[in-house]
Amino acid sequence: SGVDGHLVAAIPGDGIGKEVLPAAQRVLDAVAVRHDFALSWCELPWSCSWYTEHGAMMPPDGIDRLRETDAIFLGAVGSPSVPDHISLWGLLIPIRRAFDQYVNIRPVRLLPGLASRLRECEAFDVAIVRENTEGEYSDVGGRFATPAGEVAVQESIFTRRGCERLLRYAFDLARQRGGALVSATKSNGIMHTMPFWDEVTAEVAASYPDVKWQRMHVDALTARFITHPEDLDVVVGSNLFGDILGNIAAAVSGSLGVAPSANLDPTGRNPSMFEPVHGSAPDIAGRGVANPIAQVWCGALMLDHLGREKAAADVLTAIETVTADPALRTRDLGGRATTKDVTSALVDALP
Ligand code: NAI
Ligand code: MG
Repeated sequence: SGVDGHLVAAIPGDGIGKEVLPAAQRVLDAVAVRHDFALSWCELPWSCSWYTEHGAMMPPDGIDRLRETDAIFLGAVGSPSVPDHISLWGLLIPIRRAFDQYVNIRPVRLLPGLASRLRECEAFDVAIVRENTEGEYSDVGGRFATPAGEVAVQESIFTRRGCERLLRYAFDLARQRGGALVSATKSNGIMHTMPFWDEVTAEVAASYPDVKWQRMHVDALTARFITHPEDLDVVVGSNLFGDILGNIAAAVSGSLGVAPSANLDPTGRNPSMFEPVHGSAPDIAGRGVANPIAQVWCGALMLDHLGREKAAADVLTAIETVTADPALRTRDLGGRATTKDVTSALVDALP
């Protein structure tokens, strides 16, 4: 047909993933048409309901099938009927690791019209760079019966290669943004991995003399996110610290319902994966009231990654137009609009 296109795996997952993912597909298809390209969606039903039926979160050849795609667009997985460690370790973590998506980037901004939940604040714009393939999220450890009672051991794995490449990505980003970098640490309480993380940070920093940086203990940093988010620009952290900081930052920006994230293999050798920070929200699932903006913003990050910068910018413009209108807010932002209302408004707001 002569139309340029991208093959994208669409995994709605569970709960509101099945509502916000189709919503975002509508917006992305609309922007693609305006920019003369096509998204060809490979719909994959892998989820907790798939698990209940098949005993696995995805088929044995799941990773190979994803490898054929240009990107992975994921809603959320998780259901009260399946333990969370099974859904996470059966789908998301294998994808992040098989495709070496070692950077998890979470942009957080105060969108036009939205008020920060916690204090009066004019504007902030932070990029959280989370390590995504190792660290505290490891399967090394176990549970043991001892004469003194049961013991659980969980090891963190920090490799020099893993820390270095992530920190380089973060310093590059800080340089690009012309901003400062804060590294989340906890080297007072955690005596092996965190001093190592700090050491590698200082080594990498030496090749970025133009980037202002500092270390902050993660407990103090969480407080800083709440009291002075406008002081922060690029924040880099390990897998666990980045995860927690990402949710705090999302809450400060108004709602988890507007917070996107990208799991990137910056080398481009493997498909990257785009998913909101939020989960499957079983408490509101099936009611048509979920905020689709986080998922739509993920779509913009995906378009940007696929080299469709202009289309990505148009999606962000539409998001900013919609958040500026108080009549177009979902319940999580204090409004009464439905997923469908917001989605239609986003399509209409595309430049
Ligand atoms: P959650 O993010 O699903 O929900 C937390 C709260 O935020 C809920 O009150 C929910 O209604 C609200 N919320 C989240 N997204 C929203 C949206 N788009 N619009 C409006 N309100 C929204 O986190 P929770 O409750 O801890 O986890 C629920 C399930 O999701 C669990 O099974 C968990 O394992 C899974 N999960 C999956 C993730 C993923 O797929 N990447 C990430 C986080 C949790
Ligand atoms: Mg999280």
